[in-house]
Amino acid sequence: MQGTAPRLEIRNLTRLFGGACVVDDVSLSIKSGQVMCLLGPSGCGKSTTLRMIAGVDMQDSGEIWVDGTLICDGAFTVPAEQRGIGLMFQDFALFPHMNVADNVAFGLKGTRAEKLSRVEELLAKVGLMRLIDAYPHQLSGGEQQRVALARALAPRPKIMLMDEPFSGLDNRLRDGIRDETLALLKEEGTAVLLVTHEPEEAMRMADEIALMRDGKIVQRGAPYNIYNSPADLEAVGFFSDINVIRTICNGALAQTPFGQFLAPGVADGAEVDIVFRPQHVGIDFDRGGKGPLPTARDGTAARGVVQRSRFMGAESLVEFEMDDQSVIHATVPNVFLPKPGTPLWLTIRRDRCFVFPA
Ligand SMILES: Nc1ncnc2c1ncn2[C@@H]1O[C@H](COP(=O)(O)OP(=O)(O)OP(=O)(O)O)[C@@H](O)[C@H]1O
Ligand SMILES: [Mg+2]
Repeated sequence: MQGTAPRLEIRNLTRLFGGACVVDDVSLSIKSGQVMCLLGPSGCGKSTTLRMIAGVDMQDSGEIWVDGTLICDGAFTVPAEQRGIGLMFQDFALFPHMNVADNVAFGLKGTRAEKLSRVEELLAKVGLMRLIDAYPHQLSGGEQQRVALARALAPRPKIMLMDEPFSGLDNRLRDGIRDETLALLKEEGTAVLLVTHEPEEAMRMADEIALMRDGKIVQRGAPYNIYNSPADLEAVGFFSDINVIRTICNGALAQTPFGQFLAPGVADGAEVDIVFRPQHVGIDFDRGGKGPLPTARDGTAARGVVQRSRFMGAESLVEFEMDDQSVIHATVPNVFLPKPGTPLWLTIRRDRCFVFPA
């Protein structure tokens, strides 16, 4: 097993609280140097999963393996401090009465000189050597975060569990620290399980995303694949604003203002949702009451009347009322602010549409 086994593997992990299944048959595996993001809405069971792996809570059933060795099966358990797992949580607290050097050295074994050399190595990597003698109250939020990262990495954990570690930081600071953290984790070859409810954070950090909902992993894959081949309507909507056209299926075809969509395997009379993102709506001008001709790529154009246009910075958001009174949102890069009441023709890239049974 050794060598080929994943660094961290959880099998069929399940946790009940008061009869409710909060973590439901979750299986995951992570290799060294890989960052897996557990992504999902608030309350879906992310932190509970992490706490079982950390060894601060115990599963009702399922197994946790590290490097091909069983460390917990719900009865037998290796204590938290012997699991070789580093932790970094949102409410990470540095020890207030210790300076930066002592905080980072906290979990280290070895001689004074060995510890100091590891402390200096990590502080150099997070760019904080100049603050080695400072106390936590003298540091900014971002600096404290970096020290916490250095402290977590100092004992060279094989696995790092991070629970919303960046959520206490303001936006601009956060991007920088995320990137630095990622670089450092990769350099150390740590297997990382990062919990977040923010899709942008997961897309930015993850080699692989595990999408969690109601205690279950609903989809796993590289960020590109999850974004472009979502498992269901909620999975599309979790990553961005969406447009949904609900329609009835007939002969495996769904009728919409944008023409017919294939709905293979859907029974006659059943409802289907055609789902697409605002950035995949094309906009064309009205030519005396007519729009562009249908194409294989974009299907049939449908007429919409501008209700509202808003400038969002990198893009403009335009809301249309369609002839059937439904509302479609479109985003356009840069500035595009047509006046309310303007008739325009909308198309949607067929390869960017998802068809799901309702
Ligand atoms: N010790 C506990 N006893 C009872 N219920 C709990 C316990 N810990 C968690 N829960 C419940 O389990 C569910 C999942 O909680 P968890 O903290 O894992 O969610 P989460 O995905 O981390 O959410 P968030 O994004 O808000 O942090 C919640 O409904 C929560 O109330
Ligand atoms: Mg949580």
